[in-house]
Formats: sequence, structure tokens, C-alpha cells
Amino acid sequence: EEMESKEKPKVLYVIPTGQNPSGSTLTIERKREIYKLACEHDLIILEDDPYFFLNYGRDRAPPIGEDDSYVAPQTESFWSMDVEGRVLRFDSFSKIITPGIRMAFVTGPAPLIQRIVWHTQSTTLHPSGLSQMVVLRLFTHWGEEGFRKHVRRTQLFYKRRRDAAIESANRHLHDIAEWGVPEAGMFLWIKLKDIPDTEELITQKAVAAKVLFVPGSAFFLGSGKSSYLRAAFSTVPSEQIDIALQRLSKLVRDELSSRIRT
Ligand SMILES: Cc1ncc(COP(=O)(O)O)c(C=O)c1O
Repeated sequence: EEMESKEKPKVLYVIPTGQNPSGSTLTIERKREIYKLACEHDLIILEDDPYFFLNYGRDRAPPIGEDDSYVAPQTESFWSMDVEGRVLRFDSFSKIITPGIRMAFVTGPAPLIQRIVWHTQSTTLHPSGLSQMVVLRLFTHWGEEGFRKHVRRTQLFYKRRRDAAIESANRHLHDIAEWGVPEAGMFLWIKLKDIPDTEELITQKAVAAKVLFVPGSAFFLGSGKSSYLRAAFSTVPSEQIDIALQRLSKLVRDELSSRIRT
């Protein structure tokens, strides 16, 4: 009763693929359950899915030279399940072309899209015409087949980096941290077992040791402490991922032993 008298939410925001920062990905079954709940409770789903095309599954990438044996996992978006006009889907070219181009697109029911068009007209007006032309030319040149080839290459590229990051984490952090294997996206979400707040370690000591991560606290509202950190494996070659996690391991061990001494 108390719940019923409170105002109900109208919107459900979700990052279904390679969630940033946790790296988790919703299964199709979970998406169907969530969609059903959204229908029952009359929620609009904002499906923020920039990592949709970077969904490469849990298994390891095939060795270099055997790329043809790679089969991309199949998935369904919330938008593709939608029969009631309650999903607004956001795709981005940032992760599959380049972030600097600042191009993305939204798909959904016409009345909601119209609102976004009006909002855009009264704020940014439109994305850069030059960026739009570059993307248009690229897609015209690729065609659908070329785009699919590009997506496949990109998936394999990140999947190999993900594999390298997991291997390095196993090597350097196995006794001091925990993490899941991300099936998609660009991030390892690492929990440092005995460090309740990673902020100082990551924003000061790691920076001084020339290695960059994002402290877990950056992803929570307010000044909450977090024992997590986010490691991106997107822009760094495998050898550097290994050096980075080795440095992190040393920093954590130094921190833990200095705590024991004091
Ligand atoms: C979940 C999520 N949505 C949106 C973005 C940003 O996308 P864009 O570069 O298209 O603004 C990011 C990452 O940068 C992200 O992780």
C-alpha cells in the first residue's frame, strides 16, 4: 500500500551490453523478463547500447590467422522486442568508428523521437554536417556487407585485448582482487579485496606510477567509497595491459604491507 501511494518511476535506463563500468551483459531471457515488467508497470525503456556491436561472448578469441572460425554471438535488443512503442534505443558510432566523430543515432516511437528532434533544434541544432557526411560516405562505400566485416574485425580486435587483460589479471592479481570476464564492451571491473576505498590509490599513487584506471567511486552518486576500479582494455596493446596490471599489483601490495606496518 505504501509503495502504491508513492509516485512510480516512468523510465527505466539500461545499458544492456558490456555495461559501463561493470562489463556485464544481459541475456536475452533477462531482457524479455525486464521488457515484460516494463509493460506491466508502464515504463519507457531507455536502451543505451553503444557496445551492442562489441558483444563477443565468454569464450576465447581464435588464434591470429584463424579468424574465420570466430562466430559472433546472437542477441536481441529491447527495441527489437518492443510491440508497445515503449523503447527508445540509442546506438553510437563512438565505439565502432571513432568517438571524435560525435555521431550516434536513436530509434524508437515517432512521438518520442519528435521530442528529441525539438530538443536538439533548441540546443545543439544538429550534429556536425562534416561528421554526418564522413559517416554517410563511409557507409555508402562499405554497404551492409562491408559494415558487417568491419564489425567482425573490430569484435576480434577487442576480444583479443579482453583475453589478454584476463590473462594478465590472472597472473598479477589472482590473490588480491576479483573480477568477472566481460562478454562485451571495453572494461574489466576489478574489486580489490582488502582495499575498501580505491580513490587515493588510483587517483594519486597509480597516476604517479604512470598507470591510469578509474576509481569505483567515480561511478556512484555522492562521496561513496568503493573497493572497485575500472580498467579499460580498449586503447592499450596487450603488452602494456600486462605492465599496467603488474604495476597495479605492486601498488596494492605496497599499500597492504604499509597498512600492516602502521
Ligand atoms: C553506456 C554509455 N553510453 C554512452 C556513452 C557515450 O557515447 P557517445 O560517445 O556516443 O556520447 C558511453 C561511453 O563513452 C557509454 O559507456
